[in-house]
Amino acid sequence: MSPEGGHRGASGNSDFVVVANRLPIDIERLPDGSTRFKRSPGGLVTALEPLLRKRRGAWIGWAGVPDSDEEPIFEEDLQLYPVRLSADDVAKYYEGFSNATLWPLYHDLIVKPVYHREWWDSYVEVNRRFAEATARAAAPGATVWVQDYQLQLVPKMLRMLRPDVTIGFFLHIPFPPVELFMQMPWRSEIIDGLLGADLVGFHLPGGAQNFLVLSRRLAGATASRASVGVRARFGEVQVGFRSVKVGAFPISIDSADLDRKSRTREVRQRARQIRAELGNPRKILLGVDRLDYTKGIDVRLHAFSELLEEHRVKHDDTVLVQLATPSRERVESYIAMREDIEQQVGHINGEYGRVGHPIVHYLHRPIPRDELIAFFVAADVMLVTPLRDGMNLVAKEYVACRNDLGGALVLSEFTGAAAELRQAYLTNPHDLEGVKDAIEAALNQTPDEGRRRMRALRRQVLAHDVDRWARAFLDALGSAKSA
Ligand code: ADP
Ligand code: F6P
Repeated sequence: MSPEGGHRGASGNSDFVVVANRLPIDIERLPDGSTRFKRSPGGLVTALEPLLRKRRGAWIGWAGVPDSDEEPIFEEDLQLYPVRLSADDVAKYYEGFSNATLWPLYHDLIVKPVYHREWWDSYVEVNRRFAEATARAAAPGATVWVQDYQLQLVPKMLRMLRPDVTIGFFLHIPFPPVELFMQMPWRSEIIDGLLGADLVGFHLPGGAQNFLVLSRRLAGATASRASVGVRARFGEVQVGFRSVKVGAFPISIDSADLDRKSRTREVRQRARQIRAELGNPRKILLGVDRLDYTKGIDVRLHAFSELLEEHRVKHDDTVLVQLATPSRERVESYIAMREDIEQQVGHINGEYGRVGHPIVHYLHRPIPRDELIAFFVAADVMLVTPLRDGMNLVAKEYVACRNDLGGALVLSEFTGAAAELRQAYLTNPHDLEGVKDAIEAALNQTPDEGRRRMRALRRQVLAHDVDRWARAFLDALGSAKSA
């Protein structure tokens, strides 16, 4: 199946349309057959939901369960247009090509990507469905913002259906180095798919650079390359008569909102209560992640375990809380990783805990937003140790919640956030001794040192919020189209 198919559809009435694999809410089917909505997991929703509400835009995405209704949902300031995925689509497009092929390939091959032709066919087919749904919803001349690795073919497909709309694409995960991307059997199709946009955005300049090199090498190979004529130079790819802008736009959070919420009496009180519930330890370490092998949860547990073993951390006055949202639970590598992490938690508690006083508190479920903020306020050391992460919003959320200038952030150099949060305790997650040293330094920092670092981190996070990110991207998109 080729990504070029499709027909020109009628237009809708939305001037601003976000297209993402997931809607900001998931439908939850309850045992009695009824349904309710819950917030979808992941950083993309955290970043885009407040923004789209302000703009009263339309959001096209999957509702998180197979065979959901396609009736639009009008939710306060949002118009949500569900795209239906069958159980087979979920297995092949979502769990397969998106999360067992692209996800590991784009995250440095932490696990081995699997290449299946039928997963690719499903990816093409579902991308087409998203493009068609978008073509129906977008008003004439609308701005359409396509999100993330699950929908890389949509820009080209949509352009063929609706040449009148302005198309932006943003990748929320890393874009891999050339030598890794070249593994992909459908590498040219993906590059051509992305080049359907007017602007392609990445978190970091390195990702943009990789994309420019790959465009030069691969663009137009699905058509006759000579007939397309591709030139790539700094910040721009020329595809025939069209020019595609390419740039770096590091995403962020609604920092002011978190800052405000973290100051409320309720949150402060709950933070104190959390500390008391944990047995009033001297130090609380915290991890907050989707349960994903990229996040390095195993790394921090390993480091913590060795620090306990070496008596560099005292087991009777320190606790580690790991909050882990379930994620992609039917994908094999996620099943194996969950077993591994739960075993590590059991091991540490078995060795160092006491009855009624576990040393690692592990919750495998999403935590309500206000409760999460209270955990951020309570934590003395935040552990963010991914092996690779496009940005990592948790690191920024923690900083935004520390208006008291308390706490310390241990942050992997392999996150996009590390490019901005230079005053964190930066560490290489592949270097276990280095991670241990960073955790120890964060635990033992003087109050003055802590305040100095946190003040600098907060300056960065409060000034560079999600609105600024969106404005930068959309302004660049506006000028890309008019150029
Ligand atoms: P990713 O997009 O890969 O999941 P990010 O760190 O960028 O990673 O974003 C994760 C988002 O999900 C953040 O807004 C974070 O607060 C939220 N989150 C992560 N873990 C949990 C959890 N256990 N409970 C509730 N929210 C969570
Ligand atoms: O940005 C990373 C991201 O993969 C988003 O694209 C995605 O919506 C989120 O994390 C959560 O993953 P999933 O949608 O597979 O649960």
